[in-house]
Amino acid sequence: MGSKNIVNIFDTTLRDGEQSPGASMNIDEKVLIARQLDKLGVDVIEAGFAASSPGDFESVVQVCKAVKRPIVLSLARAQHGDIRKAVKAVEGARKPGLHTFIATSDIHMKHKLRMSRDEVMESVGTAVAYARRHLDYVEFSAEDASRSDRDFLVEVFSEAIRAGAKTLNIPDTTGYAIPSEFGELVRYLIENTEGSEKVTWSTHCHNDLGLAVANSLAAVANGARQVECTVNGIGERAGNTSLEEVVMALKTRQPVFNLDTRVHTEQIYPTSRLLSQVTGITVPLNKPIVGDNAFAHEAGIHQDGVLKHKLNYEIMKPETVGITGNRLVMGKHSGRHAFGERLQQLGFSLGKDEINRAFERFKELADKKKEVFDEDIEALVADEVLRIPSQPDRYELVYMNIASSSSAVPSATVRMRVDGEEKMAHDTGDGVVDACYKAIARISGSRAKLLRYTVSSVTAGTDAQGEVSCMLQDKDVNISGKGSHTDIIMASALAYVNALNRLEYRKRHRQASVEGGP
Ligand code: KIV
Ligand code: ZN
Repeated sequence: MGSKNIVNIFDTTLRDGEQSPGASMNIDEKVLIARQLDKLGVDVIEAGFAASSPGDFESVVQVCKAVKRPIVLSLARAQHGDIRKAVKAVEGARKPGLHTFIATSDIHMKHKLRMSRDEVMESVGTAVAYARRHLDYVEFSAEDASRSDRDFLVEVFSEAIRAGAKTLNIPDTTGYAIPSEFGELVRYLIENTEGSEKVTWSTHCHNDLGLAVANSLAAVANGARQVECTVNGIGERAGNTSLEEVVMALKTRQPVFNLDTRVHTEQIYPTSRLLSQVTGITVPLNKPIVGDNAFAHEAGIHQDGVLKHKLNYEIMKPETVGITGNRLVMGKHSGRHAFGERLQQLGFSLGKDEINRAFERFKELADKKKEVFDEDIEALVADEVLRIPSQPDRYELVYMNIASSSSAVPSATVRMRVDGEEKMAHDTGDGVVDACYKAIARISGSRAKLLRYTVSSVTAGTDAQGEVSCMLQDKDVNISGKGSHTDIIMASALAYVNALNRLEYRKRHRQASVEGGP
């Protein structure tokens, strides 16, 4: 790791990213993302928080088995019990690691931990030393560092180094910092911490003021050599530092930073799409690097400028981040082998059964639609293959009939299998989607509230697939579902049923709430 001109990319999509409302992923989905992160070239994968729930523990175990090149680690509070579980969870990793943390700001110590400074100091030393007895790679984070007393931070970090930490992380947990002050804090800590030159300094920023990327770059400019980030910037509240933005800023402005990462940038777009398909969290159109409009030139004067010379308005090439445009892939005569290869290129490393299932869907789609694009394939894979293979779906849509006219109340009849048993319901609504959702809710008995419903077109044309994404709230759990179909009412029903299945999975693997969690 710690080469001087390299910034390590520490990806926490599977841990902090998963803390985004509605972003929870099952184990198979996490493994799929982890494999793609490996392909992307990240240095560290934070696979989960092993002590938080049996489901999280198992995800860490499976991610460790699935990837070989990056360090895989689990988060752990600075407590023996957490560390023991984290150490056990990463046993199977080729390069195992552990990330332990404790809050250091007065506000967190007083009102969250109810611990004195001395008690916190003691926990740091004991936790790091205990972790180091089991693992070589141990990272320590001072949670809420940006609101902590600087000189206390210096003491805490010096203690972590004495206890054997290899990486020290400075989080802006609440997204409160601004770049000039955060950069200065990083410099101060590096200059004043005892043994500072022996460790890699890391940063972990949240985006509450929209400054996570700017703060991370300020940290790098002041000596940090690791950035913690997530794909598409997903994460707790307003999210974390966006991996693609930080990587492309370092690459595009290389002469300013004189630093590189090990990321294969052409894998950025496939990774972003894959995550969005898996979580159902769509990427805003204007999101830098990976949004649909990131490379679109609308104003005539800009279009003219780009046509004359691309660099007039483009500071990066779309190909550099893996955007190749709507590529026409195949028609209905294309073979299974070519289809499997295209899936690989799109970032889906699937097993034989999954490829076969997706291929059947592809054939059906190719019958309905003249041209099948990459986006169509991604959408159908998300629907069909990213179900929960390790657990059969509880709900299955069997049949649907809707009626709509300008003079009658819209109605829907839906037949579904629930635990293998067929059930039917009829309902009316103020539109056919409403009627259909009411009928599904009647059959499933679900009282979940529909928080969000969006419909978009996967590609252009009136025969395009509609892609529906919805988010349900059941008590304190938010979960999203996705569905795509050439008929948008079918896509809507599939998205709702998918969300109900994911909710079931979540209930069974319910995360125990962890006191003092990040
Ligand atoms: O935001 C935060 O402080 C964290 C720590 C656990 C690094 O996520
Ligand atoms: Zn965080």
